[in-house]
Amino acid sequence: MNRVQNPYSPGAGAPPPALVGRQQPLEDMDVALERRLIGRSAKGIMLTGRRGVGKTVLLAEFAARALRFGYVHEHIEAGDGVDFAREVASAVRRVLLQLEARQRRPMARAARIQVRRALGVLKAFSVRLPQGPEFTLEVAPVPGPADSGDLAIDLAGLLRETGEAARALSAGVLLTLDELQYLAPSDLSALIVGLHRVEQAALPVQVAGAGLPSLPGLLGEVRSYVERMFTFVDIGALSAPDIAEALSRPARDAGVHWTDEAIVRVGEASEGYPYFLQEFGKTSWDVAPGPSHIGLSDVTQGIPLAEAELDGSFFRVRFDRTTDGERAYLRAMAHLGPGPHATAEVAKAMQRTVQQVGSVRDSLIRRGLLFAPRWGLIDFTVPMFDRFLRRALH
Ligand SMILES: Nc1ncnc2c1ncn2[C@@H]1O[C@H](COP(=O)(O)OP(=O)(O)OP(=O)(O)O)[C@@H](O)[C@H]1O
Ligand SMILES: [Mg+2]
Repeated sequence: MNRVQNPYSPGAGAPPPALVGRQQPLEDMDVALERRLIGRSAKGIMLTGRRGVGKTVLLAEFAARALRFGYVHEHIEAGDGVDFAREVASAVRRVLLQLEARQRRPMARAARIQVRRALGVLKAFSVRLPQGPEFTLEVAPVPGPADSGDLAIDLAGLLRETGEAARALSAGVLLTLDELQYLAPSDLSALIVGLHRVEQAALPVQVAGAGLPSLPGLLGEVRSYVERMFTFVDIGALSAPDIAEALSRPARDAGVHWTDEAIVRVGEASEGYPYFLQEFGKTSWDVAPGPSHIGLSDVTQGIPLAEAELDGSFFRVRFDRTTDGERAYLRAMAHLGPGPHATAEVAKAMQRTVQQVGSVRDSLIRRGLLFAPRWGLIDFTVPMFDRFLRRALH
């Protein structure tokens, strides 16, 4: 359809991707942001779900709302080779510089002093980092609150000072943390314990995290804290009405109508997973002759095109990073069909014992390709990965 830019392409311009069917976490976030600004306690939000369900876009929407409430926002993404303490230091630095820049007219003296103090605390924190500080701060270090060398204690000190600075300016701070399943266990527990320590002070510091479904299991010993501090939201596939809305809304805005049968067909093919809905919507739009509707014949052409593209990119990059041993495990799972599968069944299909394939399974979990929904079960984090593997491996 060559009428306007394809509204399903990522970055298709404003408005941002329609966040259909996620009203509850958005309302929870609004309530938390509002409460924190008036000195009340609130819960953080922890989003968990498989690949492509919309965790990151939800975090981005949280940030957009926080800005409207007068918060400053910073984002941290965990990943291979990412030094968490360093990321926190640089996020806090950006927060403090934003707070410092908040007021054009001279800041109230007390607020200015608190922002400078927080910068000094940050300086003391970052000087202690193993590779030394990665940025220069034109302040004297303030020893004490965040330079003990114990990350949980130091994070608490750093966030408390930052929260005080925000409060002095009647502002708030939202920190979003993505891909939390990749944090080292010691960093993850330091984060939670640190946040817990700040919690009592009821400061305007709100946190939202996201991770794969393996995340709750990784929280292990700090779990009881986490359950009190965070609302866990399991993000999954969209319901039938939400599928219809997610597909038709972007087109409707461009004056294009989806037929019911086309929507049903894309719903089936995508199983309601937002990322696939978007990709199938995009190719169906491209092949539709237009000018004003997308019908069954368009999606019958569009879906295989999208699948071929996904096979070559989205699925492929994940598969290409695996070792031979990991591939053998994935292959065995794929032949058992969509998950979850009993780990015993997978091992049996490989003619091995569960113990013999345990380390391969664990490395696939660490890579974020698999997760254990319950003890003794294993599943793909990428929806429909089994089908891709069967296509790719024959
Ligand atoms: N509720 C929704 N309604 C419509 N589209 C959505 C929705 N949620 C997500 N999408 C679309 O699905 C795509 C995937 O979303 P996103 O990248 O946030 O997923 P994710 O859960 O962070 O995945 P990953 O685990 O791979 O990082 C995005 O391009 C987004 O536009
Ligand atoms: Mg994401």
